[in-house]
Amino acid sequence: MATDAAISVRDLQKSYKALHVLRGVDFDVARGSIFALLGSNGAGKTTVVNILSTLLKGDAGTASVNGFDVATEAAHVRESISLTGQFAAVDEILSGRENLVLVARLRHLKNPGSVADDLLDRFSLTEAAGRKVSTYSGGMRRRLDIAMSLIGNPPLIFLDEPTTGLDPEARIEVWQAIKELARSGTTVLLTTQYLDEAEQLADRIAILHEGRIIVNGSLAELKQLLPPVEVEYVEKQPTLEDVFLALVGRNGKDAKPAMATVAAQTPPAQTPSAQTPSATPPAQTTKEFR
Ligand SMILES: Nc1ncnc2c1ncn2[C@@H]1O[C@H](COP(=O)(O)OP(=O)(O)OP(=O)(O)O)[C@@H](O)[C@H]1O
Ligand SMILES: [Mg+2]
Repeated sequence: MATDAAISVRDLQKSYKALHVLRGVDFDVARGSIFALLGSNGAGKTTVVNILSTLLKGDAGTASVNGFDVATEAAHVRESISLTGQFAAVDEILSGRENLVLVARLRHLKNPGSVADDLLDRFSLTEAAGRKVSTYSGGMRRRLDIAMSLIGNPPLIFLDEPTTGLDPEARIEVWQAIKELARSGTTVLLTTQYLDEAEQLADRIAILHEGRIIVNGSLAELKQLLPPVEVEYVEKQPTLEDVFLALVGRNGKDAKPAMATVAAQTPPAQTPSAQTPSATPPAQTTKEFR
């Protein structure tokens, strides 16, 4: 099945017993692009990813990945892809660095140590490199998981809900890593339930609903499906994410002047003498945004 697209899916169907999950899924993913598959819980996103990565067989229809048919050329497909599943697949007993070295060895790379160090640096895990993964936060595990899937530079990577459960900073770090991947020519198919994630990352967005792709296009094309926007005056309030990032810092290493201000404004512990109104200036503990 020869095709120019990195992924080509035609009339793909899959049932789990009586549950007809995929009812004729069609889409193409261009080489070097980021394609986001959106859908509610249970829409069938993971089922699509599992069929394309040869973990599962479809019931009908065809799918090719890097020009190889997923049903008849599964071994070639597996050699040319990498999969980061919905749930982190890292070894808890090993350190982050040991996990990376292990995969680099399994992929027969020449310098497993330097491959590991390079990825640890890229994913801000150098400081935690020697610690057991069982001591990592959820976000650190997820970053390590994605780093592991990049070993060997596969031309196509599947990321099933790469940022679910991550805090805003970790999400941005993962987004940057995904954008970098695409810049270096890797094709990325990611699934997500976060609409802003698709907006941030994807060249094309497809929505899987009731077993079929109901829309597929660029963000601009998708926006044109709605009537023209009405212009109205709104006061721009910071989102909770803006506040969080301003206080904590985008990479977690920034100083926290705002936190220091809040702390300085917190009234001292109440002592009998501090309770007299004249001894205690009115404490300002809330921040207002205008
Ligand atoms: N092995 C299985 N056996 C039976 N039913 C399954 C199996 N795997 C998935 N399903 C069902 O198929 C449907 C699609 O599941 P799938 O995991 O593909 O959805 P999803 O879009 O990835 O959902 P989520 O957003 O929750 O990850 C769900 O109703 C799920 O319960
Ligand atoms: Mg899923």
